[in-house]
Amino acid sequence: MTIGLIGGSGLHDIEGFETREEISLSTPYGLPSSIYRRGTLDGTELIFLARHGIPHRFAPHKINYRANIWGFKSLGVERIISVSAVGGINSAIRPGSVVFPDQIIDMTMGGRASTFYDEERIVHVDFTHPYCAGLRGGLRQAAGAIGLPVEENGTYICVNGPRLETAGEIHFFSSIGADVVGMTAMPEAVLARELEICYAGISVVTNYAAGISGSRLTTSEVVETMRNSLDAIKSLLRATFPLVPDCRLCECKDALKDAGM
Ligand code: HPA
Repeated sequence: MTIGLIGGSGLHDIEGFETREEISLSTPYGLPSSIYRRGTLDGTELIFLARHGIPHRFAPHKINYRANIWGFKSLGVERIISVSAVGGINSAIRPGSVVFPDQIIDMTMGGRASTFYDEERIVHVDFTHPYCAGLRGGLRQAAGAIGLPVEENGTYICVNGPRLETAGEIHFFSSIGADVVGMTAMPEAVLARELEICYAGISVVTNYAAGISGSRLTTSEVVETMRNSLDAIKSLLRATFPLVPDCRLCECKDALKDAGM
């Protein structure tokens, strides 16, 4: 079993992860954000990808999500855990909190290539539950085991960016049930589903979203909070990998069954 790990801003490495191989890929969709690093951590085979490139050079709306996910599939990855920074909309979720989102609202407004099926084959993949139940269970269990307080559910609203939101937008997002706002879960999550890859997210709340706290948002606040959360995220990942079962019992592996026309 190989687990794919997508690191967001700040997460470039995990202590103890030994890179055995650096893999450069080109895909039918172009180049992924960076090389894939294959190696092991405490006996688990991992393939790590830096979502924003090395060095950090792709803004969220410029990331080649299709190439990134296709690359994982071509390397045999059946499970992806994705770490990302988000703003907190729900004022009960403070900066520094960790959320395992269970729902997504896509507000990228069609600005990103978000399907592998836009040529001959027509596929409408079921996306009722965008995150893998099995992987989410592993994350919850791991958080419990290491005593890390987390929000076990939450609705992630994904915007196109790169600008941050207006207070009016956040007010609206709150009214439709969003808990956190970020720029990368879509189309990453749906592309994984289209390739029958299990996908779960770890969202690190780096700031209150626009208008929630009343103060101006700064990138340094985001970077600083992410940096302060990294040790906890790495411990969480380390605790999660051994809890991921070899055999997939979730529905992700059959996502294309009855999905085509
Ligand atoms: N909005 C959108 N994306 C983000 C934010 C935010 O406030 N913080 C971190 N990523």
